[in-house]
Amino acid sequence: MFSELKPLPTDPILGLMAAYKQDTNPNKIDLGVGVYKDEQGNTPVLRAVKKAEAFRLENETTKSYIGLAGNLDFCQKMETLLLGEHSTLLANRVRTAQAPGGTGALRVAAEFIKRCNTNATVWVTTPTWANHISLFEAAGLTVKEYPYYDYENKGLLFDEMINALKQVPKGDVVLLHACCHNPSGMDLNQAQWKVVAELAKEQGFTPLIDIAYQGFGTSLEEDAQGLRTVADTVDEMIICSSCSKNFGLYRERIGACSIIAKDSATADVSNSVLLSVVRSIYSMPPAHGADIVNTILSSTELTQMWYDELDEMRGRINGLRTLIKESLAAKGVEQDFSFIDRQHGMFSFLGINKEQIDRLRTEYAIYMVGSSRVNVAGVSKDNIDYFADAVASVIK
Ligand SMILES: Cc1ncc(COP(=O)(O)O)c(C=O)c1O
Repeated sequence: MFSELKPLPTDPILGLMAAYKQDTNPNKIDLGVGVYKDEQGNTPVLRAVKKAEAFRLENETTKSYIGLAGNLDFCQKMETLLLGEHSTLLANRVRTAQAPGGTGALRVAAEFIKRCNTNATVWVTTPTWANHISLFEAAGLTVKEYPYYDYENKGLLFDEMINALKQVPKGDVVLLHACCHNPSGMDLNQAQWKVVAELAKEQGFTPLIDIAYQGFGTSLEEDAQGLRTVADTVDEMIICSSCSKNFGLYRERIGACSIIAKDSATADVSNSVLLSVVRSIYSMPPAHGADIVNTILSSTELTQMWYDELDEMRGRINGLRTLIKESLAAKGVEQDFSFIDRQHGMFSFLGINKEQIDRLRTEYAIYMVGSSRVNVAGVSKDNIDYFADAVASVIK
């Protein structure tokens, strides 16, 4: 049976990571990988996480299963983190299941959508995180794209987006990135969120909001503002959240899938379907990540420590955005890179062509994916000069 299989190409980002590892150039820079890096190029365990883990080691009393929905205290705290004060208002309409990372949450959502409407189409931004498309298709759903990023003007194609969404029928799902759009870094402003929320209500499509970077853009609260506007407006929506980036818990695989239904009775029915989906995919989620997040958010001291560490990460990312813009201008680069400073989160497209991307890799050992998406956290005060010189030389 296995000999019938045809080999599949490696994921371009994984291939890039392998090539970077083998590169012996001491000046090499990795802008491809999608994780936060500190000034030393490390992705450290947060101090608040270390403390919570020490607490868990001392206090854990069983390794028995934690139940289909996972750690219920964690689920409730995620609802508060996502919805803020709206979480109490919406409490009887929201149901949350812990999931293995944001990806696991999206896969659970995909299966849930399939149970609601086998013929549903999921509409995603052009471009979007590549895994969105494969994971919805893997669940047997149709995926279509709507205009989003304006490559030419480095902004949003908002009018085109709205015109496309006006064609989306009831029963379809529209995926929106809550903040720090991956790969473009270009987010909707609050007025635009309002328009999208009203349109969802009018058209009757179901918004699915992917929030993988809460706290990496402007603040924990502001990054969730658009999502909260949608939650205030529509009867039903799905939220897929991840603690990989903001808690630095990448390998612990912790996230959540939240369903908001029009009333408590529909929420209960939705929850039973959600849990049946979980049962048929992985039965029970892992405990560790949820316990860490719950321990942090249950302690005023650890929550403050986490806020401070999150501020540090966000401050570094936003500082680097300004630094990249200013360093390129200081090198006499005429092309306008000011958009980098207007975008949010770890990613932006540099907007350079394939030949320039190849030259950066072969001549300067600077690695980025073929679309010119860069992880700005891969830059540091030590390598910014080298980076700016290299970009200046390939685009002149
Ligand atoms: C837009 C988006 N959604 C979801 C995820 C899922 O993250 P994870 O499964 O690591 O929690 C990512 C990760 O890169 C992402 O960029």
